[in-house]
Amino acid sequence: MRTFKHTTLAALAASLGLAGSAMAQTAEVIHWWTSGGESAAVQELAAAYKAAGGTWVDTAIAGGDNARNTTLNRIAGGKPPTVAQFNTSKQYHEVVAEGLLNDIDAVAVKEGWDKLFPEPLKKFVKINGKYFAMPVNIHNPSWFWYSKAVLAKAGVTAEPQSMDQFFAALDKIKASGAIPLALGGQAWQEGILFNAVLHTAGGADLYRKFYASTDGAVATSAEFKKVLSDVKRLKGYVDAGSPNRDWNVATNMVISNKAGFQIMGDWAKGEFAVAKQTAGKDFGCFPGWGAKAPYMIEGDVFVFPKTKDANAIKAQQLFATVASSPAVQVAFNAKKGSIPIRTDVDMGKLDICSQQGVAALKDPARHLASPNQLVAPEKKGQIDDAITKFWNTDQSVDDAAKTFAAILKG
Ligand code: GAL
Repeated sequence: MRTFKHTTLAALAASLGLAGSAMAQTAEVIHWWTSGGESAAVQELAAAYKAAGGTWVDTAIAGGDNARNTTLNRIAGGKPPTVAQFNTSKQYHEVVAEGLLNDIDAVAVKEGWDKLFPEPLKKFVKINGKYFAMPVNIHNPSWFWYSKAVLAKAGVTAEPQSMDQFFAALDKIKASGAIPLALGGQAWQEGILFNAVLHTAGGADLYRKFYASTDGAVATSAEFKKVLSDVKRLKGYVDAGSPNRDWNVATNMVISNKAGFQIMGDWAKGEFAVAKQTAGKDFGCFPGWGAKAPYMIEGDVFVFPKTKDANAIKAQQLFATVASSPAVQVAFNAKKGSIPIRTDVDMGKLDICSQQGVAALKDPARHLASPNQLVAPEKKGQIDDAITKFWNTDQSVDDAAKTFAAILKG
């Protein structure tokens, strides 16, 4: 991991007008970035925070659900962390409504976030005119990653542009002896696979209709049942070691040319980076079928639990100032595999995958909100449970469709 030289960090702190002025504000930070790439990225935030005079207490909790539930329980129990990670979504909107988060407007207004942050994400962080969360990156949870060596050996010469072409490629990879599709058998990962098939094979309109449905009718439509059968068919391309596998272990199956494809968010690029692999040379990437594929926009935010402690508030503001600064945004996102949240930093150094993302962000017609943004956490959990049941049992397409219809109607 590239560590900032002391001089650079001192220069950074000075540029932020923080050198010397920031007392050793202590920030306990809860996050779930525990893989190789994720920890390399979060170290960039921690190093910059320390260089700006802060004290970083790292509370890393593996698994997004675990970390978010720990944060919510700690807030409810009156012993909140200083700062905590969520997704750019509705996940923390309830605690905002309950008045349990501080806003960070003191930094947002000073730093001009209104002009800097992309519109599709702003509505999840700016609530009732105040910033109650700070976005730190833009992730697309729904990318297709592939090993160039595995596809070449299998005779797959072009990126699939349809489900039929995807299945044909998976068949060739299976015949070549490699694992066609690397998957971590955990509900949230099975959810990513389901949603990718829904918005690529089913289409963006069907995806939006599904998550907007209040009568459940879409779930018993022929189009949605076709998506379910495509999802079930993918099961035949996943290896028996999938149950409970962590997402980054699945990514490493592609990195080590054991598997052809993985459907996963672009945080996977952090793992390719740690393995010193190059996009376009060692691995390929595409967000869906064709140059105008829908592009799902989510990412990560940090929230600032309510506190009256003046030092804790200073620590929250120091964190927000450091994490949103141009130099830290470039350094952190390069390791994280995401696109910087600021639109005024040099995107030229991004790899070919992120360049595809930057192009998609410029085309509002391709923007796709994530499930975490379209439905409340409880309904998201019910949908994920139905997906994981359908994936892991011999439940029929018709029975699964009825289950989804009941959830959407609920
Ligand atoms: C996502 C998060 C990413 C990532 C991933 C796997 O929800 O946005 O930053 O690291 O979880 O842990």
